[in-house]
Amino acid sequence: MPVSQSTVHLIDHLDRDYLRQALERDVRAGLASRPKQLPPKWFYDAAGSELFTRITRLPEYYPTRRELAILRARAGEMAAACGADTLVELGSGTSEKTVLLLDALTAAGTLRAYTPVDVDAHTLAEAARRLTARLPGLTVRAVCADFEHHLGLLPRTGRRMVAFLGGTIGNLDPATREVFLKELRATLRPGDTFLLGADLVKETGRLVAAYDDAAGVTAAFNRNVLHVINRELDADFEPDAFEHVALYDERHDWIEMRLRATRDMTVRIGALDLSVPFAAGEETRTEISAKFRLEGLRDELAAAGFTTLRQYTDPAGDFSLTLAGV
Ligand code: AVJ
Repeated sequence: MPVSQSTVHLIDHLDRDYLRQALERDVRAGLASRPKQLPPKWFYDAAGSELFTRITRLPEYYPTRRELAILRARAGEMAAACGADTLVELGSGTSEKTVLLLDALTAAGTLRAYTPVDVDAHTLAEAARRLTARLPGLTVRAVCADFEHHLGLLPRTGRRMVAFLGGTIGNLDPATREVFLKELRATLRPGDTFLLGADLVKETGRLVAAYDDAAGVTAAFNRNVLHVINRELDADFEPDAFEHVALYDERHDWIEMRLRATRDMTVRIGALDLSVPFAAGEETRTEISAKFRLEGLRDELAAAGFTTLRQYTDPAGDFSLTLAGV
């Protein structure tokens, strides 16, 4: 019997300086704004990705386990409903949960190609290697790109399912989310589907605990953005002089992570030729993680031109996956 060959292509849309320049822009603008802020995408260097993987295993951090439970129970149904031959995954990271979708699409007999999209070429190559070992015959067309800005570069052929898992949509504020969903919708054709993972509103205590774990892993993850800026932009942040803060904003339905300066200090950012004063107690916002209601998700999707086909939650009602058509 012939052994089917896997093919891996890595399409790199990010030139060498892209990420560095984007970081420079974000840090310059974010530290000039009041209150100060830094976007969450800069958490994820090698150390930050490792810390995030540890977060997903914490007892307090339920989203990953809940999303996996939904996929275990329902991936077959999702595969049958979408009939996709191409799975595109935005912010694919380690592609750990994706295996369940790939297996289901393979079992349904429709799958031909997987396109993980991530800003980190190393992460992409590693994920492609693991997946092709498991699914011989799979074509992986990995795209190194920033999904917030490069949706236009995604593959245009085939019947696609675009998956955006993990609740990462919650990192976008409502206005940015609206633009993102509309832009994504504009790249899809009839027959294509969108699978969106989103964390749900729940009791505040559990939400806060998920972002302020007893072992301090999330605190280390939060401070990691300062290590990234130190290394990439020749800065002298003292990460230990910042306190991890996680709070739930009930007005916006989102978790906010902040870094609170524990004393007055001035931080030098060499690559930007910038000195930034921090006052004792001053807080820099590092992440929002929005929490949703099922109806709100359907409304936001409808406003962007999607039709909700199915919504799934885990038995506890903690997390959701919405399958939408166009
Ligand atoms: C990867 C964005 C889904 O918001 O829950 C985990 C990131 N931040 N703990 C989330 C995160 C703090 C995570 N997402």
